[in-house]
Amino acid sequence: MPDSPSHPPTGFPTLTRRPEWTALEDHRAEGQPGLRELFAADPERAQRYVARVGDLYVDYSKHLVTDTTLALLQELATATGVFDLRDAMFRGERINTTEDRAVLHTALRAPRDAVVEVDGENVVPAVHAVLDRMAAFADRVRSGAWTGHTGRRIRNVVNIGIGGSDLGPAMAYEALRAYTARELTFRFVSNVDGADLHEATRDLDPAETLFVVASKTFTTIETITNATSARAWLLEGLGGDEKAVARHFVALSTNEEKVTGFGIDPENMFAFWDWVGGRYSFDSAIGLSLMIAVGPDRFRELLDGFHLVDEHFRTAPAESNVPLLLGLLGIWYGNFHDAQSHAVLPYSHYLSRFTAYLQQLDMESNGKSVQRDGRPVQWQTGPVVWGTPGTNGQHAYYQLIHQGTKLIPADFIGFAEPVAGLSGELKAQHDLLMANFFAQTQALAFGKTPDEVRAEGVPEELVPHKTFKGGHPTTTVLARELTPSVLGQLIALYEHKVFVQGAVWHIDSFDQWGVELGKVLAKRVEPALTDGVDVPGLDPSTRALVAAYRDLKEV
Ligand code: F6P
Repeated sequence: MPDSPSHPPTGFPTLTRRPEWTALEDHRAEGQPGLRELFAADPERAQRYVARVGDLYVDYSKHLVTDTTLALLQELATATGVFDLRDAMFRGERINTTEDRAVLHTALRAPRDAVVEVDGENVVPAVHAVLDRMAAFADRVRSGAWTGHTGRRIRNVVNIGIGGSDLGPAMAYEALRAYTARELTFRFVSNVDGADLHEATRDLDPAETLFVVASKTFTTIETITNATSARAWLLEGLGGDEKAVARHFVALSTNEEKVTGFGIDPENMFAFWDWVGGRYSFDSAIGLSLMIAVGPDRFRELLDGFHLVDEHFRTAPAESNVPLLLGLLGIWYGNFHDAQSHAVLPYSHYLSRFTAYLQQLDMESNGKSVQRDGRPVQWQTGPVVWGTPGTNGQHAYYQLIHQGTKLIPADFIGFAEPVAGLSGELKAQHDLLMANFFAQTQALAFGKTPDEVRAEGVPEELVPHKTFKGGHPTTTVLARELTPSVLGQLIALYEHKVFVQGAVWHIDSFDQWGVELGKVLAKRVEPALTDGVDVPGLDPSTRALVAAYRDLKEV
């Protein structure tokens, strides 16, 4: 195998034995000042530890780092080849080594005149050809020119997909609700639990419903099962005429053969390519439902937001490269402070699905325990990513972040303005929302000392209970407003953060073999559940559970 950024030369030193790694261990062992001390020592810290990218204002002053920490982390990034791997990704090299694929989601948002080559071929014209087809189709649905089988206009769009073929469009639809065509209804079905499709369709008229079947492979059992049931629902509602399928089903996929086999006209298929990973795919044809919702122009603004951060990540120097910074901060906590998880806490109701989206992005990418060359890792890799919109979390799990025993670095994401459409008292509530945001990051960072608690006259026995240790690190990400472009910028920021971490950890962030075993076993077990078939080789625990299930089930 030739040497390249994704196949480093033989003898690539073990990460934890690198001098840049041990320098960070030594630095950590020296002990760092707390956040109160760091701010007291540097009156400019709140101004100096701020980075900007596009419309995003990123304050990292409330982190347990000094200039020395940041410099050491940057040295680690350089030594582990983060920049070489980044450049290889943008060049279209096959950095997804276990699947032998290029990783080029950045090409999906490249401008029309850009040149991005895979195997010597510029892929940008094909990307824009699909975007143009999507735009024409989205416009027809939005205007009512695309009609259903009975001639009625489409009023409902049901996206059927799972994982990367669901989370992106579903999250972005919620995030950009204020920009959506409110006269249309959008639903997102992912779960193979029939309840999902049932609830999504029970009040819809099949004559006015379009199903968008989103699956990169078009073999994913959940999606194909739901799509098959959706087709049966449609045909039952429209008198059984198979011709109806062509007006009510479109496919988003890389697999034309399977799409055709399912009975969807290739004319109604929007393609993408194997160099787009599932969790990086929603800028591709997978975004069709979203494009129908917000319109092609807003969708382009979203893509331009992504592209802006791509260019920043590709070109900005290390000192001001925001995805690099966020990735390295995560490594500082995960690898040198034993943090196991990372909270993402948006102070925007519209970002209610944002963390769920990031869970796949981060945990499917960096939930790995072997290196790119197959050796086991001997260091922590991706964190558990979790969180929900902030104020709700405050009344649920923030207690643990403030006073529990775990270090949980957190990202707080907020906006200066509520989205357009809110007015009067509802608009005025925004300052209260953001007051909570700033209060939480303040309390987490600086806490409340026992003396401060005593000064309030609190009885001595309650002082330990009312003391806040502080020192909980947070990143604050602010923007003026949650626009399509800002959403694109935010997602690209996290995509590249995840990239940086995977590069340092020397893992393949673009495969997902860990989801395969469960899929295979589910296929094996299903006949045992449905028909009581004796599945040879079933382990005793599962065998007993299957028996219990069959006893409970009406058979
Ligand atoms: O869970 C595994 C996975 O392959 C994800 O990476 C992907 O986003 C999802 O399944 C859906 O796959 P597909 O788009 O091929 O249906």
